[in-house]
Amino acid sequence: MRLLVLGSAAGGGVPQWNCLCEVCRLAWAGDPRVQPRTQSSIAVSADGEQWVLLNASPDLRAQLDAAAPLSPLTNAAPTDKRRSPIAAVLLTNGDVDHIAGLLTLRERQELTVYATESVLGVLADNSVFAVLDPRHVRRQPIRLEEAVQPVAGLELSIFAVPGKVPLYLEGDNVEIGGESEMTVGVRVSANGANAYYIPGCASVTGDLKERVRDGDVILFDGTVYHDDEMQRAGVGEKTGSRMGHLSMAGESGSLQGWDGYAPVRKIFIHINNTNPVLVEGSPERATIEAAGWELAYDGMEIEL
Ligand code: MLT
Ligand code: MN
Ligand code: ZN
Repeated sequence: MRLLVLGSAAGGGVPQWNCLCEVCRLAWAGDPRVQPRTQSSIAVSADGEQWVLLNASPDLRAQLDAAAPLSPLTNAAPTDKRRSPIAAVLLTNGDVDHIAGLLTLRERQELTVYATESVLGVLADNSVFAVLDPRHVRRQPIRLEEAVQPVAGLELSIFAVPGKVPLYLEGDNVEIGGESEMTVGVRVSANGANAYYIPGCASVTGDLKERVRDGDVILFDGTVYHDDEMQRAGVGEKTGSRMGHLSMAGESGSLQGWDGYAPVRKIFIHINNTNPVLVEGSPERATIEAAGWELAYDGMEIEL
């Protein structure tokens, strides 16, 4: 199995277009301690020939430019005029950073978009997605715990994780931390290996830890380091938990939640630009590394 990190950042990317938080300032200045990152998506494949995108970010076009295996040239015949190694897209929620890239895939390419009924409902309610011509782009609902095989040899199944509805669907009373079809994690299986991709999660539950026990690697929500990090950075009032993301640090944070969970390879992904772990050499980066965590970066490849 091959996993390719297309975008390791959370919504906004690093640096974010309008942000001058400490991390973004370094990134704007080209400081080598902060690697720029695009928004949240990975690609998975059993054979390196046919690929499935897990989420489609607003940065998808640039991500495809940077990802040689996803180029139309991969295994192209001399007579091919239109083709892509991308066979399908699976969505883990309806957040803008996970669905806006679908609009980049609108050029009449045969594709299947997998998501829960709830998330497909979000697409159906936003008519701009009708630009994905239904004669070519199939929308395939999948149920929680159901396994699908988008391409030969690659099995995907989804499961609910604590989360919330997308920002743009929040009403006056937002339920945060509930498990529903609105926020899912993905189990990716091929050739006897298993990977888990969970870019949004509000807490580490016992059930979740039990579930991923057969994983060789987990890519897990690393949005913020401190729950109140946006306030500390002076860029907003929202906490990580209000956004449906647990922090790395703290009593109910992911470092604590996954403590001692070895020998699974653990990688933080969906990193917000305010997160100090993005600065190489920072004490926070040292802390996560000492706890056995890696930090995903754009272009990171994992072979299982
Ligand atoms: C999130 O991960 O909380 C969302 O992507 C935020 C957003 O919609 O910008
Ligand atoms: Mn996000
Ligand atoms: Zn920033």
